[in-house]
Amino acid sequence: MKFFLDSAHVHEIAHALEMWDIDGVTTNPRHVEVTGKPFLTVIQEIGRLVQGTDKTISTEINPYHERWQDMVAEGEKLAALCPNFVIKVPSTEAGFKACQMLRAEGIRVNVTVCFSAMQALQAMRMGATYVSPFIGWKEANGEPSVSFIEEIVEIRNNYLFETEVLVAAVRNGRQVVDAALAGADIVTAGFAVYQEGFDHPYTHVGLAKFQDFWDKTPYGDEEATR
Ligand code: E4P
Repeated sequence: MKFFLDSAHVHEIAHALEMWDIDGVTTNPRHVEVTGKPFLTVIQEIGRLVQGTDKTISTEINPYHERWQDMVAEGEKLAALCPNFVIKVPSTEAGFKACQMLRAEGIRVNVTVCFSAMQALQAMRMGATYVSPFIGWKEANGEPSVSFIEEIVEIRNNYLFETEVLVAAVRNGRQVVDAALAGADIVTAGFAVYQEGFDHPYTHVGLAKFQDFWDKTPYGDEEATR
């Protein structure tokens, strides 16, 4: 299973690449806004971090675009900036068409803000590289998320679509595990989700106990560093 980091902070991405071997990055206008830098500056900084690798950066286009032609034009412009960029288009009629047109040019596409299996199916039919069901938002709205992921994965498998299921808006380690159990290919989550998810208080309790015993036991090698 692939782990993507959902962030536009270069220091977070650099840490996640070095320490966690993340497989890619997703950004959105919210993440870019908090950096305080212009959009193109931020995405190109991120692009430079992964250039020469097979790791992808999913980057948003202007969310005001309503015509597929405008989505395609911006997608082409952004894709030309960095070979690692995957263009995010929305789960709308125009977004699906833009996906089809960009894919015909060999540009990779992440169909995002997906909230139904029907939307995911159309994204797959249009050749999406990734489809991004937003499970955190579903759960916040009182809707089931595990069955939602399972349906999308089952549809993908039934028809052998090449689209990877990228579970997004993930809020905690439990949801990462749920996505893995449901057969998702990728999760994208914020820095804190991974940092907290890779830790457990009992690990530290256990280590403290072992340190105690360690201190009471001779190592048996005078030269050894203790
Ligand atoms: C994924 O690609 C999105 O950037 C992200 O998960 C959106 O959700 P959030 O901003 O609510 O976390």
